[in-house]
Order: sequence, then C-alpha cells, then structure tokens
Amino acid sequence: MWRNRDLIDLTDFTRRDVETLFKQADVFLEAGLAPTKMLEGKIMAAAFFEPSTRTRLSFESAMHRLGGSVIGFSSAEGTSIEKGESLEDTIRMLDNYSDVIVVRHWEDGVMRRLARLAKKPLINAGEGQSRHPTQALIDLYTVFKEKGVVEGLNYGVMGDVKHARAAKDFIRGLSLFGVREVNLITPRGLMPEEVFVKEMNNKGVRLNHHERIEDLISVLDILYVVRLQAERFSNRSEAETLKGSYSITLKTLEPASRGLRILHPLPRVWELSSEVDGTPYAAYFKQVYFSIPVRMAVLSLILSDMERIQEGLI
Ligand code: CP
Repeated sequence: MWRNRDLIDLTDFTRRDVETLFKQADVFLEAGLAPTKMLEGKIMAAAFFEPSTRTRLSFESAMHRLGGSVIGFSSAEGTSIEKGESLEDTIRMLDNYSDVIVVRHWEDGVMRRLARLAKKPLINAGEGQSRHPTQALIDLYTVFKEKGVVEGLNYGVMGDVKHARAAKDFIRGLSLFGVREVNLITPRGLMPEEVFVKEMNNKGVRLNHHERIEDLISVLDILYVVRLQAERFSNRSEAETLKGSYSITLKTLEPASRGLRILHPLPRVWELSSEVDGTPYAAYFKQVYFSIPVRMAVLSLILSDMERIQEGLI
C-alpha cells in the first residue's frame, strides 16, 4: 500500500505495490496526462542538494498536472544552510510548509534519517551512489510498456554500475519481479561494490560480469546504459582515463535482435551515440515521457485515496 508512505528504498515495496502504481500510471497516460484536481490544495516541497533536470522538473510537472503546487530549491545556495542551518532543521521546516517532501542528496543513508524527522511522506529523488527509486519505477514501467512483461527477459546493464544509483535501483527493481540474472558490462574497476553484489545474491539475482558488449549484444532484450559518473570519483584523473571506455553506436548494434530496447536514465555524455536516437532500439526518450505518469502515480497514491478507490474500498 502507498498511502502516506515514505518512498526511500524500492525494496520496502512489493511487486504488487509496483503493479498498482503501473495501473495508476496507465490511467494518467491514457488520459493524455490531462490536468486533474486530484491534489488540489496540496503542496510538494522539492529540496535538491545536487543538480537535476529530469527528476526535479518532472516531479514539479507531475504535481502541477495533479492540481497541486510546488515550493523548493535546486541547491543549498540561497537557503539558510549558507548561514549554518543543519540539513535536519531544513527538513523540519519543509515538513511544516508542505504535504510531501521530495529530496535529492549526495549522502548515502541520509534519507532514512530525514524521514524519521518528517511527519509528512518523504520521497527519495536520488541518494548518493546507492538509490534512485522513482527512476527505477520509470525504468520498470518503460520495460513493461515496451515488452508487456518485466520477468523472463535477458538484461544487460552497461557502464559505471559502481557509482550509478539508477543502475543499482533498476537491478533492485528487477529483483522484485523475480528476475534471476543480470549481465553487467563494465570496464574493470566499475563493477558495483561487494555489498551490493551480496544484497542482490541474497535476493536470488546473479550478476554476471562482461567486459565486451559484443559478446552478448545479440541475446539481449533490454540494455540499460549509464554514463561514467565522473563527479563521484575521488580521483578525477582516474575518471579521465575511463572516458570513452564503453559506448553504444550503430556499429555496436549490428548483431542486436530487432526486439532489443535501450534504456538510459539520462543525462548521457559520450556512452550512447545520438545516431541511435532514430532507431527502434531507442526507448530512452519514451522513458523521459513516462516519468510524468509514473511520478503522477507516485504522488497521487501517496497523497490521496486513489489506491483504495482502485480496489473498490471506498
Ligand atoms: N535521471 C535523472 O535522475 O536525471 P537528473 O539528474 O537530470 O534528475
């Protein structure tokens, strides 16, 4: 169930919860994302301590389409954090001013701490290098819309899986649907840390390592690509040496099956050539479009009685 819950870790939710969300996203999609008054009078606070284009603006767009309003900031600059106010007190303030708080922050583990302080639901909009649950919901929804199923497909995740929270939460999301094997195509040194590998193994997901996309491109149904997260390297010159170390071009896709779909949470840099954009493989701009119905579904299920209405309980 979604009503009044924090959304911090996707694995706090069940496959059934995610499927409920898909149904609600379908309602908004089929209505052409038409504006509603479902959340009229409700206020969303967006507290972003890291840069964002898609997540912040699609949350704002979703809230406006639901009839609610938005307050917030896109960096600590200009807030009283500059005067020495703590992150905790900042969240306490937003808790007074809003009905739901959407937070992006660079520190892993911070969201649970902040959610304990807030009486209003808190939504994780990207946390360090570990979690990005609403991005994963969009990604799973995109797979579902493209393929009709999530389970039973051959998955590849390519790039800097070590530092990319979107890649990790995509794999966590797949585990909810009973996916048992995911192929990681990463240069040496960019495999996820052991603690994540163990977490997935404990959920029954085997992570296979490959260094060359050419070895498996022909058998993949879904290829999820992430950029090199250079800003998360302690040693920036190490990131420089990995620049261009993996990429998808039309040439890479020559042996691919016609049904392959490529996802990317974006932004992209050099790892996914724009020459792929016009091909049937490219699902990443659909992913962007689906961010609106999915985030409308997240906000409406958390802030209204939509789920109980759906289930005929009221
Ligand atoms: N996919 C994603 O999180 O993009 P932004 O960083 O632009 O929000």
